[in-house]
Amino acid sequence: MHLKKETVVSIINTIGELNQLQDVDIILSSTLCEARSLANADAGSIFLLRNGELEFRHVQNDTLFGAKESGIFQYSAETLPISESSIVGYAALTKEMVAIDDAYAIPDGVPYQFNASFDDKNRYRTVSILAVPLISRGNSLVGVMQLINAKNRQGTPIFFSEQIKTLVPIFTNNAAAIIERSILNRELILRMAKMAELHDPEETGVHVQRVSAFCAELYQRWAENRKIPRWEIRRFRDIISQASMLHDAGKVGIPDAVLKKPGPLDDDEFLLVKQHTVYGAKLFSSISSELDQVTHDIMLYHHEYWNGIGYPVGLNGDQIPLAARITALADVFDALSSKRCYKASWSNEMIYKEIRNDSGIHFDPELVDIFFEITDILHAIQMKFK
Ligand code: C2E
Ligand code: SIN
Ligand code: SIN
Ligand code: FE
Ligand code: FE
Repeated sequence: MHLKKETVVSIINTIGELNQLQDVDIILSSTLCEARSLANADAGSIFLLRNGELEFRHVQNDTLFGAKESGIFQYSAETLPISESSIVGYAALTKEMVAIDDAYAIPDGVPYQFNASFDDKNRYRTVSILAVPLISRGNSLVGVMQLINAKNRQGTPIFFSEQIKTLVPIFTNNAAAIIERSILNRELILRMAKMAELHDPEETGVHVQRVSAFCAELYQRWAENRKIPRWEIRRFRDIISQASMLHDAGKVGIPDAVLKKPGPLDDDEFLLVKQHTVYGAKLFSSISSELDQVTHDIMLYHHEYWNGIGYPVGLNGDQIPLAARITALADVFDALSSKRCYKASWSNEMIYKEIRNDSGIHFDPELVDIFFEITDILHAIQMKFK
């Protein structure tokens, strides 16, 4: 079989671009997108190995949801066992690629079955399937990618060609190493964030993951509304996802007795708490990358108000960096919907009222409008990181 030089060069370039990214979810969606384009596949999904199970992470489907990069589906909390009974589970178990020409005519003698529930629910017709195990260095399994419905020139679903079956694993095995690195990176950031929030070590993991995901989605919609180029959206979304996880890392410098106080703070105590912004920013005062810069800005300015009465500086409006304006909204939304040592959780109805009232006072009004455009996605994030 003859591989075209341009195809190989394009795979190498794509791997190079993936390697520039850091955030797990951005890398997953980009990997899936590029693999689908390589195979000319209508749809696909990615599962990651986690605690011995396959955690559903991402789905794309040109027929059902257009070319949208992110959607509500990535926050589904579904898992699949690693077992012979499903196609994806079988690919994980055997670490072998599974190619199926017609999902509704799987030959006898194989242990797995096609699960038609997605097709039934969405009125989709799966024809061909290519389930590719994501194998990193040392032959360890990172997850499984599933490509659905290779298309011919007319857009009709056909089987995956021998050429595609050769090319896709070359790409995915490189991608697997990048995915593995990004998972370790995310764990490191989470550990840093957890260490900082001494007041609620049990909860913090999910709090920072929710805030991070809210920020990513708010930024994405903000940028789409402003017709920011796709590559720039991908790049900055990656940065804000990570930087926002560390917004409260400066709380590491605040005494436990204050942070864990069950009731309201007195003036002196609140003065102390306000310092978490400055302490955090000091950790990122030597800036060597845009990620450092944005992390610094978020730590320092996430309690500034749009009208200028916030802390620690009292910036207003556009003077407050975009990433900090986004994190402010995401952080308060999450603080209000969570139980804290000093307050009960609020109902969504009360939270929505509060956020609407605070538009132009605490929050950037443009971001508040966006917040109400994407409440379904924000809700899916809450369900995933409970
Ligand atoms: P946090 O718990 O993560 O809350 C972040 C922000 O969410 C707060 O920033 C505030 O803007 C908003 N928020 C949280 N709960 C409420 C609420 O019940 N009503 C309203 N209107 N807004 C709320 P803020 O006020 O600058 O506080 C910063 C941090 O200071 C808080 O982070 C928390 O760690 C601590 N803190 C604030 N108030 C108290 C308190 O009364 N008792 C204790 N123990 N800690 C407090
Ligand atoms: C993972 O293990 O899936 C990476 C961390 C995360 O995204 O929750
Ligand atoms: C950005 O997208 O990097 C920031 C733009 C802004 O602050 O308005
Ligand atoms: Fe804070
Ligand atoms: Fe917070």
